[in-house]
Amino acid sequence: MIEKTLPFNFSIEVNKSKPSTLDPSLSLSEIKKRHDELVKLIQKYDHAYYVEARPLISDQEYDNLYHELETIEKLHPELITPDSPTQRIGESPLSGFSQVSHQVPMLSLENTYSKEELFAFLERIRRSLPGKKISFTVEPKVDGISISVIYKNGLFSLGATRGNGTMGDDITQNLKTIHSLPLRLNMENPPELLEIRGEAYMSLKDFEKLNAEREKEGKPLFANPRNATAGSLKQLDPRIVAQRPLAVVFYGGGQLKGFECKTQVEWLLFLKKIGIPIPVRFWHCKDENEVYEATCTLQEIRSDLPYPTDGAAIKVNEWEYYPILGYTAKAPRWAFAYKYGAERARTRLIQVIFQVGRSGIITPVAEMDPVFLSGTTVSRATLHNFDQIKRLDVKVGDYVFVEKAGEVIPEVVGVDTSQRTGKEKEIIPPEYCPSCGEKLFWEGIFLRCGNENCPAQLKERILHFAQRNALDIQGLGESLVDQLVDKGLVKDIADLYDLDEKTLVSLERMGKKSAQNLLQSLEESKKRDLSRLIFGLGITHIGQKASEELARYFGSMDRLANASEEELLAIPFIGEIMAKSIVSYFRKAKNRERLEKFRKIGFNFHSLHSGSSSGPLNGKTFVITGTLSEPRESIIAKINSKGGRVSNTVSRKTNYLVVGANPGSKLHEAKKLGIPIMSEQELFHLLKENE
Ligand code: IVH
Repeated sequence: MIEKTLPFNFSIEVNKSKPSTLDPSLSLSEIKKRHDELVKLIQKYDHAYYVEARPLISDQEYDNLYHELETIEKLHPELITPDSPTQRIGESPLSGFSQVSHQVPMLSLENTYSKEELFAFLERIRRSLPGKKISFTVEPKVDGISISVIYKNGLFSLGATRGNGTMGDDITQNLKTIHSLPLRLNMENPPELLEIRGEAYMSLKDFEKLNAEREKEGKPLFANPRNATAGSLKQLDPRIVAQRPLAVVFYGGGQLKGFECKTQVEWLLFLKKIGIPIPVRFWHCKDENEVYEATCTLQEIRSDLPYPTDGAAIKVNEWEYYPILGYTAKAPRWAFAYKYGAERARTRLIQVIFQVGRSGIITPVAEMDPVFLSGTTVSRATLHNFDQIKRLDVKVGDYVFVEKAGEVIPEVVGVDTSQRTGKEKEIIPPEYCPSCGEKLFWEGIFLRCGNENCPAQLKERILHFAQRNALDIQGLGESLVDQLVDKGLVKDIADLYDLDEKTLVSLERMGKKSAQNLLQSLEESKKRDLSRLIFGLGITHIGQKASEELARYFGSMDRLANASEEELLAIPFIGEIMAKSIVSYFRKAKNRERLEKFRKIGFNFHSLHSGSSSGPLNGKTFVITGTLSEPRESIIAKINSKGGRVSNTVSRKTNYLVVGANPGSKLHEAKKLGIPIMSEQELFHLLKENE
């Protein structure tokens, strides 16, 4: 395994000790020359200070140079260049962020916490590339906010957030204020367009300093460095962002024009050479064992890294294999995150409160003495349910162990019984709903509130409906939902669409602009794909993946709403519990009424991949594996247009498996089940025959 850390090399060496006042005898061309010199010098010192943490000059010397540059620019504004360090700080706040569409989608990574899965992932890659020579890279997985930046002809021209992966906020002005981001690439002949992907972050030290200052000023504190970074990048005033200790680090690429690269190692070293900050340490590994070793080293040194990390990002080094390995809906198949095991903390449980979920289930939540855990201070942790309380034998007053499940939601995982005094108290399940007062009942291990009009449930349903993976309604946060429900303005999700600007503006912390943004976002939500609407309804047991399959299979809300249990069971991945839940949801009058209201409001009731309900392939289910000559979406559309359905999972209910190049494990499964297998040509033939 080779660890890559090369020294950064700048080729400019110029005189740094010129006086800071402007010599009146200088000609314009001499002044221009000095301006260029100063820009390059300051860029060099910025890089040394902010990227390499290796200051080359004193603060005083730096300030003198900066001041000299400002003086020149004040007298000769025509000399100001877009990469001048004076251009980092914007003049005035923006009124809102415009949207940027990502030509190459910004994906996420599949992840695991287990060593076995790590090896299974690597093995799957080997199996997909038989006989090929493969190597891997291991990089820190930086726990920041994903960003994409574009350099046109070497000049920083656009910066954006990830947003939903295909559309993000234009945060160019905010990113410009971050000194570790070069405004100009350090290269002779820059490519026409270079899109670079990475993270904006805040170091733990800077985060703690920032919070300490905020505490002194009586400002609300940020929960963790990631939250502080997100909050800073969301600022509309770049002058505020400039005061936040943000930094950037890059590892990936998007659109590349006029540039070619063959491997991840080559890419990272290229970035480093042109002045882009890359992970301080990363590893090039020739086999599985080296990958594992590198992840262990990374875990050992994680606290020495300048950024918070939550694991290792493991990638196939050779880019030529990427199209062969392909992508799932959200993540590449050539990369993977191996996350560090959860950290654990011990603290005292003070009391238990009872939260009401969107389906009325009561979740016991522990309130504890605050304790620091994986980057945040935690004072609440879930106890999941009453069965778990019994299993852990946890009592009020106990010292409990807390971990973060998936590094996000803290949960109580055990009790330190050695600390018991005998004064601890049993946790008693409540008899009545803490929100609406209705008598609760047991459903297996779950305690439940059966009141459909319970305000706590409605709030949770609205938040679920509005979340990014569902209808993605921006600006509909917890405190607004609380007000809308408590004031009786929203009694059902559909009422959201009756809200108007006047009502919204009358609410707390609601300005005209935010009201308009919310209304705009509500308007846009009507056009989202059917799968998101299905997911947003919050049908019990129907998650995001199932919603996507249902939308793809039925193609329209009406077909889904009228499907019988038998029909639902015919879909490969739908089991009995899901089928029953769907039927019972659409049987309820209230849900039907809401659906009719959605129709009237103008919601999109058809899937983008909507199939015709009749056609020669009606009732036939196809599964696709491997790489086809056309994008998968267009093949799906063709099958749908003939009434056929495309599912993701091979089962006895599959009629045909369509096999492209480098098929995955589905081929093996289909063979095992004796399902007819066809090539892409055979599929086209079948589609043609049925024209
Ligand atoms: S590769 C298509 N490499 O983690 C490639 N991601 O959970 C996807 N991240 O969305 C990203 N450090 O924001 C990659 N060294 C690294 C990373 C990294 C942090 C973030 C990235 C991604 C998320 C996935």
